Amino acid sequence: MNERPGPALDEAPNPPGDATILASWHRHAEAWAVAVRENQIESRSLVTNNAIVEAVASRAPRTVLDLGCGEGWLTRRLADQGRDVLGTDAIPALIRQAKAGGKGRFQVLSYEDLAKGAMTERFDLAVGNFSLLGHTSVNGLFRALPQLLRNGGTFIVQTIHPLLSCGDLPYADGWREGSWAGFSNAFTDPAPWYFRTLESWVKLYTDHGFSIKEIREPLHPQTGKPASVIFMGQINRSSIPANRLGSGADAC
Ligand SMILES: C[S@@+](CC[C@H](N)C(=O)[O-])C[C@H]1O[C@@H](n2cnc3c(N)ncnc32)[C@H](O)[C@@H]1O
Repeated sequence: MNERPGPALDEAPNPPGDATILASWHRHAEAWAVAVRENQIESRSLVTNNAIVEAVASRAPRTVLDLGCGEGWLTRRLADQGRDVLGTDAIPALIRQAKAGGKGRFQVLSYEDLAKGAMTERFDLAVGNFSLLGHTSVNGLFRALPQLLRNGGTFIVQTIHPLLSCGDLPYADGWREGSWAGFSNAFTDPAPWYFRTLESWVKLYTDHGFSIKEIREPLHPQTGKPASVIFMGQINRSSIPANRLGSGADAC
């Protein structure tokens, strides 16, 4: 079961926007919580859940912001390790599930809210586990991150590996059709997602004042291929021009 593969959509008359992604998550909140809690996504149980927990632990953060936390499993796991963790997500139904699930603090906040400066707290580390799916929303989030992290803080992203999710399409950034192949019948109309090449992910970090400290490629034990890619970037606020620090929409 893949997280979200599919064909390209940029050729469509009206390429989808980030709002389509949130509309889909509003519809799938309940089904998603069940899929995660019943371990229906094999690559997560086998590889990627532990990979992201280990990646976070390797930076030894005391405070963590879990961006696009969904039903909150990662927030809970990190809180169980004694960390002070805030999980945020745009979807109120998912945050309700998260709050009912145990440890951790949770708040309904979209990346668009964060880009507008809706959060004043600062964290040692922020993490996005398979949750950076859009285009402008993700660019805006990267622009907001220097204000959300203490100087020297880390931003970790786990996402599908571009080389494996590219399929037969050209290896170029662009909107791709989503797929719920392998998920239960409760999952219908999948949301599109924005494909980024490895080079584009690295540029997204470096353009926003981060230096890449590590890239991990956790291997699937059955296929021997990467089940995901994990980027770990460290912020250096002094490398960001003053007029780029602060809230506001990203121009990219
Ligand atoms: C594939 S789920 C991953 C959830 C969680 N990180 C996990 O590991 O189970 C993607 C999550 O990203 C969230 N998301 C997508 N776009 C968002 C946005 N613009 N602002 C906040 N959350 C967003 C969705 O609501 C959804 O919960």
